[in-house]
Amino acid sequence: MNKPVWLSERVQWIGAFDPDMRSFDVILKTPNGTTYNAYLVRGSEGVAVIDTVKAECADQFFARLEAVCTYAEITTIVLNHLEPDHTGALPELMRRAPQARLYISQSAQLMLKALLNRRDLDFTAVSTGDNVSLGDRNLRFLHTPYLHWPDTQCTYLEEECILFSGDVFGCHFCDERLFNDKVGDFRFAFEYYYARIMRPFREHVMKALTLIDPLPINMIAPTHGPILRDQPTRYLQRYRELSGQRLHKELNAGEKTLIIFYISAYGSTTRMAQAIRDGAEQVAGVRVSLYDMEGGDADLFIDLVEDADGILIGSPTINGDAAKPLWDLLSAFSMVNVRGKLAGAFGSYGWSGEAVQMLEGRMRGLKMRVPLDGVRVKLIPSAEELELCVQHGRTVGEHLTGSNAPRVIDMADLLASRQPEVESNATLTRE
Ligand code: FEO
Repeated sequence: MNKPVWLSERVQWIGAFDPDMRSFDVILKTPNGTTYNAYLVRGSEGVAVIDTVKAECADQFFARLEAVCTYAEITTIVLNHLEPDHTGALPELMRRAPQARLYISQSAQLMLKALLNRRDLDFTAVSTGDNVSLGDRNLRFLHTPYLHWPDTQCTYLEEECILFSGDVFGCHFCDERLFNDKVGDFRFAFEYYYARIMRPFREHVMKALTLIDPLPINMIAPTHGPILRDQPTRYLQRYRELSGQRLHKELNAGEKTLIIFYISAYGSTTRMAQAIRDGAEQVAGVRVSLYDMEGGDADLFIDLVEDADGILIGSPTINGDAAKPLWDLLSAFSMVNVRGKLAGAFGSYGWSGEAVQMLEGRMRGLKMRVPLDGVRVKLIPSAEELELCVQHGRTVGEHLTGSNAPRVIDMADLLASRQPEVESNATLTRE
């Protein structure tokens, strides 16, 4: 009961099992629970504790720690990541081992104070190239931010080639056999964790891998799930595959991809979508795809969204709102990095027409780039309005390729725009 687990003669797992956890951070399902992995490293001149556990599991952590060392022996506490599932037991650990020096990443400094609501904590902020010696054992720090918070870092035990990686390379999979060569098949949990936690930060994953790749690795010791001692580099390779350039991009080198998602009650927004497509594909180097979300499920499109250079969303206004499948789609955008992608909205409406601005607002909130006001058409689009949609598509395409004409400010237009708004059937404005 609450026994530590030996990784090597000098390194023990002193974490906690949480087999009954069924969802994590609201966004992840955890069908067989999780573990909070913390570790103890014993050197000839000191003992280091690497990460702690969530507050509710502190008893397990302290029982395992006390089985392998006294509090007076602890010289060093390292936090690779400050999320509460790893810092819950920290205040009590610092109270019991007040002589221990706390090491966190430079980006974690302000976060530590805010998370613990304490201004009196003393710590050392470290980055790549910094070390802490335990005598015959040496911990080296790697600055690996955004995996998956700004504060994250990895710690490398040089003499034993163990990478204490924090959340990266982890997964929510509780199995008391603990090592990857002993536990059940956890591939689903590993891939799911990457998809929901690390994927939005895949550029940062690739940067971290450039720091890790030169290191000999005998074992990867993450903060959740199995400890990866059997063929650990396979997991590095899998992260490289998941985070690298995608096949789609390779097949369309040089092309800009525009995806138009839409939904339509009576076909009006469909016709607008088709007209915008016709305009956009008149621009050389733009490839346009059209998807009716009435026949789609948001999760199916995430790969396309991640790869797209531009995304337009078309919705009718229904009871003062955009249609639900499009909100579901936008909600799924948080699974990938859409920051900076060109975005826009359009749609037909009956009397109020709020959907377009609401969608644009959400996309701006996701830090997407919305250079053009969206096109709105009252009820059935006329031939003239469809031609405006074609023009709009062409302008979107030009923005994607950078071939749009420089903006010319016409003072007459500016003055006119300050007159009381008169609703027209179509609202089309240029940047
Ligand atoms: Fe396991 Fe990001 O905390």
